[in-house]
Amino acid sequence: MMKIKTHVLFCFISLCFASNAIHVLSEAISKPSNPVSYLLYCGSTSPETSADGRKWEPDTKYLVSSDNTAPVQATYQDPSLPSTVPYMNGRIINSETTYQFKLHGKSRHWIRLHFYPIDYNSFAAKDAYFSVVAGGITLLKNFNTSVTALALTQSHVIKEYTFYPDTEYLNITFTPSPDHKGSYAFVNGIEVISMPDLYKTATLVGFNEETVDAESSVLQTLYRLNVGGQFIPASNDSGLTRTWYDDTPYLFGNIGVTSTSNSTDRKFKYTTDVPEMIAPFDVYSTARSMGPNSTINMNSNLTWFFQVDSNFLYLVRLHFCELEYTQDNKRTFDISINNKEADKAADLVLWGSMESDVPLYRDYAIYVSDAVGDDNLTVTLTPSFDAVPPPETYDAVLNGLEIFKMNDTKGNLAGPNPVPSDYMLRVEKLKEEQQEKIDAAREEENKKRKKVVGGAAGGAVAVGLVAAVCIVAYQRQRRVLGSDPGMASGWLPLYGSWSNSKSTISSGKSCSSSTLSSLAQGLCRHFSLAEMKSGTKNFDESQVIGVGGFGKVYKGVVDGGTKVAIKRANPSSEQGIHEFRTEIEMLSKLRHRHLVSLIGFCEENEEMILVYDYMGNGTLREHLYKTNKPQLPWKQRLEICIGAARGLYYLHTGAKYTIIHRDVKTTNILVDENWVAKVSDFGLSKTGPSLNQTHVSTVVKGSFGYLDPEYFRRQQLTDKSDVYSFGVVLFEVLCARPALNPTLPKEQVSLADWALHCIRKGMLEDIVDPNLKGKINPECLKKFAETAEKCLSDQGTHRPSMGDVLWNLEFALQMQENPNGASLIADERARTSESTAAHSISTDLSYGGESTTDESTDSLNSTNAAFSQLINPQGR
Ligand SMILES: *[C@@H]1O[C@H](CO)[C@@H](O)[C@H](O)[C@H]1NC(C)=O
Ligand SMILES: *[C@@H]1O[C@H](CO)[C@@H](O)[C@H](O)[C@H]1NC(C)=O
Ligand SMILES: *[C@@H]1O[C@H](CO)[C@@H](O)[C@H](O)[C@H]1NC(C)=O
Ligand SMILES: *[C@@H]1O[C@H](CO)[C@@H](O)[C@H](O)[C@H]1NC(C)=O
Ligand SMILES: *[C@@H]1O[C@H](CO)[C@@H](O)[C@H](O)[C@H]1NC(C)=O
Ligand SMILES: *[C@@H]1O[C@H](CO)[C@@H](O)[C@H](O)[C@H]1NC(C)=O
Ligand SMILES: *[C@@H]1O[C@H](CO)[C@@H](O)[C@H](O)[C@H]1NC(C)=O
Ligand SMILES: *[C@@H]1O[C@H](CO)[C@@H](O)[C@H](O)[C@H]1NC(C)=O
Repeated sequence: MMKIKTHVLFCFISLCFASNAIHVLSEAISKPSNPVSYLLYCGSTSPETSADGRKWEPDTKYLVSSDNTAPVQATYQDPSLPSTVPYMNGRIINSETTYQFKLHGKSRHWIRLHFYPIDYNSFAAKDAYFSVVAGGITLLKNFNTSVTALALTQSHVIKEYTFYPDTEYLNITFTPSPDHKGSYAFVNGIEVISMPDLYKTATLVGFNEETVDAESSVLQTLYRLNVGGQFIPASNDSGLTRTWYDDTPYLFGNIGVTSTSNSTDRKFKYTTDVPEMIAPFDVYSTARSMGPNSTINMNSNLTWFFQVDSNFLYLVRLHFCELEYTQDNKRTFDISINNKEADKAADLVLWGSMESDVPLYRDYAIYVSDAVGDDNLTVTLTPSFDAVPPPETYDAVLNGLEIFKMNDTKGNLAGPNPVPSDYMLRVEKLKEEQQEKIDAAREEENKKRKKVVGGAAGGAVAVGLVAAVCIVAYQRQRRVLGSDPGMASGWLPLYGSWSNSKSTISSGKSCSSSTLSSLAQGLCRHFSLAEMKSGTKNFDESQVIGVGGFGKVYKGVVDGGTKVAIKRANPSSEQGIHEFRTEIEMLSKLRHRHLVSLIGFCEENEEMILVYDYMGNGTLREHLYKTNKPQLPWKQRLEICIGAARGLYYLHTGAKYTIIHRDVKTTNILVDENWVAKVSDFGLSKTGPSLNQTHVSTVVKGSFGYLDPEYFRRQQLTDKSDVYSFGVVLFEVLCARPALNPTLPKEQVSLADWALHCIRKGMLEDIVDPNLKGKINPECLKKFAETAEKCLSDQGTHRPSMGDVLWNLEFALQMQENPNGASLIADERARTSESTAAHSISTDLSYGGESTTDESTDSLNSTNAAFSQLINPQGR
């Protein structure tokens, strides 16, 4: 097989012929004879094990020379890191340095490079700027690790390559870029692992019968998707430690339907050409197809869209397995890549030698030029409606998809650094500003200490004190920046911050007495530890429904049957008894139908336990996406939003003080068994942090998706910050996607930015949850989107009050239910808004005492009367 060089492709000089891609399958896949496996934890001094159970060794043995390098340790562990190994240690490289690995016999190898870009001692993350060359191929050039991490919205960066060296030794060389003063190179982990030879030839799309030989090239993994299925971690791969991601972020337009093989012990017919390791069972047992209606499918397609660098050749591997049909010509489809035909009338039963359940794959190569000025790669499946004879159904299906970038003829694989979204740049800036403040405070403190202590004798003490100050400052930084502001407030989680700071202080002080106020005691039950233990099966793991910064939340039973949520402080929690009492004092007085209530507490044997209402239907988020639960109908979503808006409205206006929630998000809106929404903050979220990350949420940047941009600038929270976050919640409900989705193209990463962009372009319909398409009254949609959009106004003063938001959502609901009646209500409101202004707080809301919420005003079925009585549009 001849190799095709990129430039040749466009000169038509040398052509290679192959029968077609079936060729790939005729060469049995060979396993390496002498497998090697190097896992280096750079900068470490002893072997260590990563969270996935793999063993990593120190890197010194493999360094050709360690001059001009230094081992370093990270001083901050980002909670989103998947494991401390191989990220918390690293090696700084100040001039060209080579790692050398002995390979045993010819075989294909993975190279994986792990980077955790933060400041290491005096080495600032922004100055890490370097090249990496492996086996003569430039993998990375002028690689800016921090900007890459920012663009990916990840704390760490993993680069994966596969290649087939014909040398005995593999050299991996790191060189700081000369283009930037003070640049250095670094690396935290290196993997070199032999693997079976999975990549050989691929059909070159757009060139009749031509193929590309992938064997001699280095391939970089760009995308690896379990189409129609879920994330598969490296530990669940079929032995090759690959990670497979969900394909939904890459779908363009029609999302089709997903299907899963009807049995987990279904036997797939693997062959020597397609052995089990090609892709795990989960990839072949889940698929995405167009859906059952041929009429609709005829004019439609399935398209996936990827951003890539131009001027490279890409290897696109499609995985298939026919799970439904056992006869040919039932379902055939055409495959095109970048609008060029790759395969015609693909028939999986035919491809599987007239059998179903046969795992298959096809490799295609495509050259992406910058001639048309774009750097996209699209894969499109279209039913073959012009096939003769026509297939029985018009449909298309795909199980898995991998995209690899191939080195160019100059031996280069490196592209430009990615550009982060504006949103992430703002986040970054905020972090820097915070850091500066902390540094300044530290310095200030330093000076003071020096003055006080003075002289040489004080030196040691001063060091200790500085260290103490650093820890305080550092913890403060984590609290401010912890990206999950709610978690950071720990034992004061529910309504973290009072806009009237004086009252915080005074109420805090009054609580420091050893007994709770009689009011709080009267309002709150005191439970014994025995009751807590018997109600949670002695805090059995099976009862855990959530984990937060403070510890675990258990499902429990008290009083012989009442279901409750029991929040038990982690003994190592930073929060103490003082905050615990403050929380009881405050929460016991806040009662509202749309707030999760505190039922009681237990304080015994140093245990600090809070007991809340149990919310049978969990969080709002788990009913929106990434879920197996049934899709919520639009009306119900709207009603939940209205309930949550009422809870927030009460916080803002109903209590003695304006209370700012600070962490409004879909995991803090809970739903009880009657689908009544309640605002909470104790993170029943299943995606909460694990126990060993007590400080912040795991989805670090996730919570940033809700943060008020004005808060970035002025660092001052107002009730309008909650309004902003609630706007994001509204779009999340409408679009059924996360507030931040790092796997999307950068302009789509932040839901707030993307939704505003789409509204401005008149493309709102495109981002609405496909399950809701055609089910929302257009006027209702307009009102809802308008409201959400206003909530996201850049300046707080331009945002509506929570009261206005609530009114508009009620109005949207009326439009959905009774479009004609709704306009009458609008008129009514215009006339009566003055007179109702004073009304609402006294009747609807209460401070202290039993819940006095008037059920009738909360009834969502009520029409005009309740509607006009409800809201104080001026809010406060
Ligand atoms: C790398 O990216 C960061 C942005 O995160 C930027 O501040 C820095 O200047 C860049 N470094 C170089 C050497 O370009
Ligand atoms: C690998 O690096 C070493 C030391 O720099 C050098 O002597 C050797 O020739 C290199 N080998 C290859 C295959 O490049
Ligand atoms: C990984 O595999 C194990 C064992 O089969 C299974 O219990 C677990 O749920 C899988 N994890 C994921 C994320 O698929
Ligand atoms: C398929 O969709 C078309 C157009 O929406 C509709 O008229 C037809 O009834 C549908 N067929 C079936 C079998 O659902
Ligand atoms: C796929 O469908 C979309 C929308 O229906 C259309 O715009 C696009 O041109 C189609 N692509 C191909 C390759 O047929
Ligand atoms: C699963 O589906 C296949 C093909 O549709 C069918 O032959 C088989 O009986 C089904 N198995 C079960 C357990 O439903
Ligand atoms: C390619 O991607 C860019 C950026 O996402 C987009 O603006 C452009 O329209 C895309 N081009 C095509 C042909 O889809
Ligand atoms: C990648 O580099 C190798 C070695 O320099 C070369 O043989 C191969 O042709 C290159 N691949 C492509 C697609 O140009």
